[in-house]
Amino acid sequence: MAHTERVKFGSKLGIILATAGSAVGLGNIWRFPYMTGENGGAAFIILYLVCVFILGIPCMISEFIIGRHGASNVAQAYNKLSNGTLWRIIGFMGVLTGFLIIGYYAVVSGWCLQYIFGSAAGHLKGDSAYINEYFINFSQSTWKPILWTIAFLFLTHFIIIRGVQKGIEWASKLLMPVLFILLLIIVVASCLLPNAIEGIRFLFMPDFSKVTSDTFLGALGQAFFSLSIGMGCICTYASYFSRDTNLAKSAVHISLIDSFIAILAGLMIFPAAFSVNVQPDSGPSLIFITLPNVFLQAFSSVPVVGYIISLLFYSLLSLAALTSLISLHEVCTAFIHEEFRLSRRRAALIVTLTGSVIGAFCSLSLGAWDGLQLFGKPLFDIFDFVTGQILLPLGGFFTCLFLGWYVPKKILKDEYTNWGTLRGTLFGIYLFCIRIVCPICIAIIFMHQLGWI
Ligand code: PFF
Repeated sequence: MAHTERVKFGSKLGIILATAGSAVGLGNIWRFPYMTGENGGAAFIILYLVCVFILGIPCMISEFIIGRHGASNVAQAYNKLSNGTLWRIIGFMGVLTGFLIIGYYAVVSGWCLQYIFGSAAGHLKGDSAYINEYFINFSQSTWKPILWTIAFLFLTHFIIIRGVQKGIEWASKLLMPVLFILLLIIVVASCLLPNAIEGIRFLFMPDFSKVTSDTFLGALGQAFFSLSIGMGCICTYASYFSRDTNLAKSAVHISLIDSFIAILAGLMIFPAAFSVNVQPDSGPSLIFITLPNVFLQAFSSVPVVGYIISLLFYSLLSLAALTSLISLHEVCTAFIHEEFRLSRRRAALIVTLTGSVIGAFCSLSLGAWDGLQLFGKPLFDIFDFVTGQILLPLGGFFTCLFLGWYVPKKILKDEYTNWGTLRGTLFGIYLFCIRIVCPICIAIIFMHQLGWI
């Protein structure tokens, strides 16, 4: 593909906010708190941060390099550097992973919309058995979750078709600050509750007795998912970076923002949960079953505050999910638009419709059509497992090997130092990480998750 002028993000802030928008999502506000809850609080956070810095940042820089060098969709970007060798498969794998993640991510995003309306309409009131039943009845019904999934995908669609600057960058600049403000409001409300200090202590006082090999590996996997690494999202966004974007610095900024938001999410959830004596280790159902109860109980003396907090919380969750879903959608849209030479609008429509179909099957597999199972698990769980625990680690692993051992070092150095205009003092460390450290760490997570070690 010729080096024609490609559309770019309009500003440095746009680059940081759009990429941070991809990273900050359900992974931070839903997965991170429950993983922390299950793995000993602060000890998990320390390990998570170590993983972000030794594994996440080098992998992110690698995807930046491939994306900006390729200046095209992810499949083409890997293709250009691989000179037609089998390495190019990594790019196609990214697009496939993107479609699969869209399927179940859009379903959970749709649940967030239902909960916004549920809290606004005052339906999230009642005892814990009622809240439990509310979630089960809703998530296992046939039409409602599918309609919300499709609604969420179309919301994403309308942002995507406005293009990179007027759609993605505009939405990120608007939504990310709102997300941050909502988060701060709920953090303050949560930390002012009686006994909130117990939750804060849990979050910041490490209990190393709870650390096992699972904790370490869980932290690695979480860093991966949370930074959107391993499927070409970061690579696709980097194809819209300009030549003077400092890739290493941007990766550090985005990782810091992502980690900071995850810790704030912990500060939002743990103080409230501890103040009403709820253990925040209920796994994936934490935000749809445990939290509505926590909000009801914590603010029982002033129910209207509980009601507002619940509304703000699910709006926050939806915004976070939206900016991540935009990035997943963009990976697939850019691929179809450029590889099949269709207009961006048509390409986006194909992605939205395909995502709706995959999402519908994922949603139905949770109860309404329980025949939709593979290996005894609902399709929803299978997609989550196959993408999060197999395809993302594999994508990251091969990307490091590809860049570290196959692509000429000069290309890496040129991209890293912006063609010699930056000093690139840490280039040697970066190279060591992608050649040795990252592949070994990722291989360990991967093998552990498959039960091989
Ligand atoms: N990083 C997103 C989150 O934390 O929710 C999830 C995600 C988005 C994963 C995009 C992978 C991806 F390509």
